[in-house]
Amino acid sequence: MITNGEVLIRVEDVHKVFGGALHALNGVTTEIRKGEVVVIVGPSGSGKSTFLRSLNLLEVPSSGHIYFEGVDITDKKVDIDKHRQKMGMVFQHFNLFPHKTILENITLAPIKVRRKSKEEAEKQAMELLQLVGLEEKAHSYPSQLSGGQKQRIAIVRSLAMEPDVMLFDEPTSALDPEMVGEVLDLMKQLAKDGMTMVVVTHEMGFAREVGTRVIFMDAGQIREEAEPEEFFTDPKEPRLREFLSKVL
Ligand SMILES: Nc1ncnc2c1ncn2[C@@H]1O[C@H](COP(=O)(O)OP(=O)(O)O)[C@@H](O)[C@H]1O
Ligand SMILES: [Mg+2]
Repeated sequence: MITNGEVLIRVEDVHKVFGGALHALNGVTTEIRKGEVVVIVGPSGSGKSTFLRSLNLLEVPSSGHIYFEGVDITDKKVDIDKHRQKMGMVFQHFNLFPHKTILENITLAPIKVRRKSKEEAEKQAMELLQLVGLEEKAHSYPSQLSGGQKQRIAIVRSLAMEPDVMLFDEPTSALDPEMVGEVLDLMKQLAKDGMTMVVVTHEMGFAREVGTRVIFMDAGQIREEAEPEEFFTDPKEPRLREFLSKVL
């Protein structure tokens, strides 16, 4: 699928050096357009997380620029919190607050950051919970949920901020195999509803089925990017061929 949506994020020659020597990102340039589901794959240590975390400046690039909705967020004068609110992020581990109920976990940021009333935030949270079939868990605590349920709540919590893009860093890697499907199904649903998504994952089936574009990273660089069909059936780079022969 070709998406001709407007550019949401533009990444321009981004480098990230850790400790003066480790080049985690070595000149990354790409664009994320509205409605795209960009899947990032690559070997461990290739810079996938660093790339994803750079998009909302959880990692500050050593050089280069990142434009979000036309604003250069690497410009130090920019109020990053304002822009970060529009980028939902879901990690491998759910990071839910253990001593708060599911409803409190979901409504916390909308009330504090978006200044929604408690009533309004709870109404929206319940609607989202219904959408993912977890409304009966509203008053439970995270420890009372399965890993798959917790990760779906983490996604719902991000959605409650009404983000313009969702960033996922290996959202199913810490889950028991039987729970992977329910999380991927929810992500698939989001994609279908038109959410712009950037997803780091080892789930090649998801990349192939849901991705609009797949990016292969190696040694801090984008080595290949293509639509899934071409990416998986006609890989150009020897390193990608080698990678695919191991993971497929
Ligand atoms: N905070 C950090 N400090 C030092 N080195 C880091 C840090 N984060 C990542 N790295 C290094 O940067 C490289 C890329 O890491 P990462 O982006 O996590 O790769 P991936 O997600 O593809 O496994 C690795 O060599 C990793 O050890
Ligand atoms: Mg990683």
